[in-house]
Amino acid sequence: MAAKSLSELFVEELRDMYDGENRLTKALPKMARAAEHPELQAAFTSHLKETERQIARLEQVFRAVGEEPRGKKCDGIIGIVEEGKTAMEELDGAVLDAALIAGAQKVEHYEIASYGTLAYFAGLLRNDRAKSLLGETLEEEKAADRKLNDIAKSRVNRDALLSAGMEEEGNGTSRSRGGTGARRGASSGRRRSTSRAARGRKR
Ligand SMILES: [Fe+2]
Ligand SMILES: [Fe+2]
Repeated sequence: MAAKSLSELFVEELRDMYDGENRLTKALPKMARAAEHPELQAAFTSHLKETERQIARLEQVFRAVGEEPRGKKCDGIIGIVEEGKTAMEELDGAVLDAALIAGAQKVEHYEIASYGTLAYFAGLLRNDRAKSLLGETLEEEKAADRKLNDIAKSRVNRDALLSAGMEEEGNGTSRSRGGTGARRGASSGRRRSTSRAARGRKR
């Protein structure tokens, strides 16, 4: 049923996020298993726990506006999660880590936009309880986005660049260059085959 008022639109948007967050509790463990970098695995695992708390908080918001907690198919999150599945099938190693971060940041930005709008609507509707609960989750999503940014900038994207450089070297003959980058590239290559084998076992 199409929303006819701001309060109905608010509930529709709440249902969208309730469905989206529930889908993310299924996607995040897969992303943690697929990630190679320990810091990235830990970030996905801790955001899973945070997401479970956010779902409970959304249920409090539903109660604060006198509605039953119910989801409505969230096409936005479905699309981003699908892209992540494709990346997990097609990529490996540090390059997969870089793709997982890119996908996770797309999710965070979707959530930041959604919770920002919901908190603003709650304010317009003069529901302070809902506004403060939604504001709390909004801050958590912003922090999750910043953390992903830090991980990407500190290690993961550099490793992806180095592992790509190593593959190019492997195709040619210049293996004598050595150096830290080449060693890291080589070890990341080994991890890549391990992670592929590990995922094979899980299937
Ligand atoms: Fe969330
Ligand atoms: Fe999030």
